[in-house]
Amino acid sequence: MLETDHLVDTITVAIAGAPDATAAMTQAVTLLKANRPDYTWVGIYLLDSNELVLGPFVGKPSPHTHIPLGRGICGAAAAEKATIIVDDVNADPRYLACSLETRSEIVVPIMRGSDVLGEIDIDSDRPAAFGPADRTLLESIAALLAPRL
Ligand code: SME
Repeated sequence: MLETDHLVDTITVAIAGAPDATAAMTQAVTLLKANRPDYTWVGIYLLDSNELVLGPFVGKPSPHTHIPLGRGICGAAAAEKATIIVDDVNADPRYLACSLETRSEIVVPIMRGSDVLGEIDIDSDRPAAFGPADRTLLESIAALLAPRL
């Protein structure tokens, strides 16, 4: 498991070497999942008009491949243009269940200026798995991905 700076460096190199957007996103989700044991499901949604569409992900298939803006924690983060951390998904009425084992979630928008391009969505089977270090890491990765989308 790489510490934050080293993991950001590793993902920077991987994204720079990726031939296209899909490969860049796939590298990011794969390296995040491999280096953070608490990250049970790691995926990227892309905004297409008013809907988030699931792109590359690592983990079990999700039933939520299309999420309207404003629905779920994913839709809320896109509508608010801000990172959302949920310590206990079962206590959050916005939550759209993807797996019964999921206990906490972080959603980080991928922005270009004030436009939302998509978001990084991560579920954990551990309650309150996401803290300031995860936010910093994932906001860095979102900023790296934005110019590639
Ligand atoms: N839990 C998300 C839905 C996506 S799945 O976690 C992959 C939400 O509430 O928006």
